[in-house]
Amino acid sequence: MLDGKKDLLGLRELRAETIEKILDTAKTMKFILNQKNKKTGHLLGKSVVTLFYENSTRTRLSFELAAKYMSAFTSGVSAGGSSVAKGETLIDTARTIDAMGTDAIVLRHGMSGAPRLIAEYTAASVINAGDGMNEHPTQALLDLFTMREVKGGLQGLKVAIVGDIAHSRVARSNIWGLTKAGAEVSVGGPATLIPAELGRTGVKVYHSVQEAIVDADVVMGLRIQTERQKSGLFPSASEYARFFGINEKRLALAKPDALLLHPGPVNRGVELSGAAADCEQSRVNEQVTNGVAVRMAVLYLFTRREDE
Ligand code: CP
Repeated sequence: MLDGKKDLLGLRELRAETIEKILDTAKTMKFILNQKNKKTGHLLGKSVVTLFYENSTRTRLSFELAAKYMSAFTSGVSAGGSSVAKGETLIDTARTIDAMGTDAIVLRHGMSGAPRLIAEYTAASVINAGDGMNEHPTQALLDLFTMREVKGGLQGLKVAIVGDIAHSRVARSNIWGLTKAGAEVSVGGPATLIPAELGRTGVKVYHSVQEAIVDADVVMGLRIQTERQKSGLFPSASEYARFFGINEKRLALAKPDALLLHPGPVNRGVELSGAAADCEQSRVNEQVTNGVAVRMAVLYLFTRREDE
């Protein structure tokens, strides 16, 4: 339980103080991760199940490692290899996992709201590992952690989020988290990939990447969500790279010490040029490391019961 919540469903519903507490705890977890012996007893005797209906490398593996480092029992279920393939509903699957005494269910699902739905039927903590186009809270938390670690704070930080904003749960969670923390957010991308309502949220909207990036402290590229786009919203990957991709020339418009982030997986040569992805300002690999620390913090804080 964290601030009376057993589940992490999104950053939209968390207070700024709660987000800060998770980031502070992740700092301790990162210290543990840097030790020769990473094993801790934070989840001793607890069990964590990952339930993934969509593909994943980073999120799934980092949740599993995070749980193992903290001495939890871990198991994973993929939609293809489970009774979901025989027609079992999401709620029945979640109830089945819950009935085995599971303490945390980490769910990735293509439907926005899926974690909220199962959270009503389970005693286990439900951790959202990405739901449709809605939220990907632990990705945003690791992004915030990376920015805070390098820049020393989030208040007043200028963050430019570039690319397919409309279909991106990463962008949504980051916008919630960053604005609550007092950062200034600008978004840039094709008009077809930026939701109209964003202009009413205090986020600055640009249809040219250059304008969004100028003077930024952090530039965040996003993956093109081809699996969520119903029709071609831009002509081709090469056109996208030409007008909206982040290359070294565009990155140079940001502050000289600006960070380049991307949630991964990166489509090299499309969202980021190869040179940009590997440049000194790129923190893509550190984001992955920080993802383990943040997920350790989340699992620990949300599965902790009041008597612990
Ligand atoms: N960033 C992210 O969610 O990556 P995966 O799809 O590999 O988990």
